[in-house]
Amino acid sequence: MLNKILLATAALQAHVLAQSCPSLTAQYPAPSVASDYEARLVAQNLDKPRGLIFDNNNNLLVVEREVGVTAFKVEGAGSCVTLKDKKTVVSDGTLNHGIELSEDGKTLYASSRESVLKYNYDSTKLSVSDNGQVIVKGMTTDGQVTRTLLLSRKSKNTLLVSRGSDENIDLSTVDVNSGQSQIRIFDPSKNDISYTTGTTLGWGLRNAVGLAENPTDGGIWSAENNADNIERDGFSIHENNPAEELNYHGKLEDAKNSLLDANYGYPLCYGAWNISEISSAGQLQIGDQFAIAEENATRQDAFCNDARQKPRLVFQPHTSPIDIKFDTKGENLYVSLRGSWNRNDPVGYSVSVISFSANGEPTKPSSSTTALTPIFSNSNTTACPGNCFRPAGLAWDRNGRLYVSSDATGEIYVITKSGGDALDATRPKASAASKSPVSGVVGVVVAALAMAFAYLL
Ligand SMILES: *[C@@H]1O[C@H](CO)[C@@H](O)[C@H](O)[C@H]1NC(C)=O
Ligand SMILES: *[C@@H]1O[C@H](CO)[C@@H](O)[C@H](O)[C@H]1NC(C)=O
Ligand SMILES: *[C@@H]1O[C@H](CO)[C@@H](O)[C@H](O)[C@H]1NC(C)=O
Repeated sequence: MLNKILLATAALQAHVLAQSCPSLTAQYPAPSVASDYEARLVAQNLDKPRGLIFDNNNNLLVVEREVGVTAFKVEGAGSCVTLKDKKTVVSDGTLNHGIELSEDGKTLYASSRESVLKYNYDSTKLSVSDNGQVIVKGMTTDGQVTRTLLLSRKSKNTLLVSRGSDENIDLSTVDVNSGQSQIRIFDPSKNDISYTTGTTLGWGLRNAVGLAENPTDGGIWSAENNADNIERDGFSIHENNPAEELNYHGKLEDAKNSLLDANYGYPLCYGAWNISEISSAGQLQIGDQFAIAEENATRQDAFCNDARQKPRLVFQPHTSPIDIKFDTKGENLYVSLRGSWNRNDPVGYSVSVISFSANGEPTKPSSSTTALTPIFSNSNTTACPGNCFRPAGLAWDRNGRLYVSSDATGEIYVITKSGGDALDATRPKASAASKSPVSGVVGVVVAALAMAFAYLL
């Protein structure tokens, strides 16, 4: 009898869940989602949402351009997520992309074109208790505006700040003292540090917007947005070159990191994608770096190969990787690809995944053209970038669900495995409202019962 009551209760619960699952509708054709995955639109009408992060109470913090940092409470099981009780945490319209939280959840970091700021944050009140303290300054340029933040979990008190170029092909960046197109290391407990006094982790990185630390071995990875409209020997080769790049920077804890201060090539050297469109390609392979210098580019290729660090993986040109986030086991690196205006046939506009092996390396070689597997994409890219979602920030909640913002459309989606199962199943679960109670075999039985129950009613 008790069993029957429990089953009936479960059935009713399943029935109610199915009915109450929120469903917002986008203004463009429904996204296509790879089999085994589920995606749901959970917020609309945001102001160009960029960086996302979850606080220690599982609230979602969002950088909205021209607004500041806003917070949402997150409710619901599986993919039936509701974002509610929106609150402005920091009102500062100059904040435009980067966001981080200290491990104890009490210090919030955010970035503007000019600086990195830190705030005392209270996740029970969803508020900060001060106006923010400048920790890194002197970054204003007319060019790339994002300053991505990464607070290392392996190396304590270490903040990475990535900054792009001032122009498409910015020759000033051949000098490390330009402070542009590089990733620098800072002590976030200090105040008012000039960007150019940080330790250089890597340079010659045109615009490395994506930045992540592999949780298994502490390896630092960045995803670089490469140049537009490039030519070689006077020929435009921009449609299928240069590649976007995934670059490796070694481990912050490693006192002998041979990649510390390495130069990754920009603005002299670029990752090769389509060899057949590169004039005088010689021995160039996909994933090698080639030169675009005016006088005899071929001769410079040797310099690019010998004196510059090559990418660990390459992606199709103009896919525009924005954020990269590992799962807990470091087996999958998720990438948001925002797409670009600089290609006739639009590419990117998706969330994709890169497979990593236990040794902390991608499973695919650097010459691979299939390192990215799309899981969530625009179904019709003909209308991109005009009538498309454009993935920007990524964040995990404590139930292993992945959230992605689309700045162009002012939206947030949640991505899970089919049936609302966690995408990152090893992520520590919340005590309440963790996973849907209906999953797997039990789910099928309960769903069938729910149907019978509904029929009887
Ligand atoms: C590479 O270039 C050739 C020649 O223009 C073209 O036919 C081919 O589709 C391109 N392939 C890729 C992957 O870009
Ligand atoms: C460019 O350099 C290569 C390699 O040194 C050489 O073989 C080629 O003749 C040069 N081309 C021109 C136009 O100078
Ligand atoms: C895709 O979008 C284009 C441009 O908006 C439109 O002309 C075309 O009909 C769409 N294709 C499909 C299959 O919906």
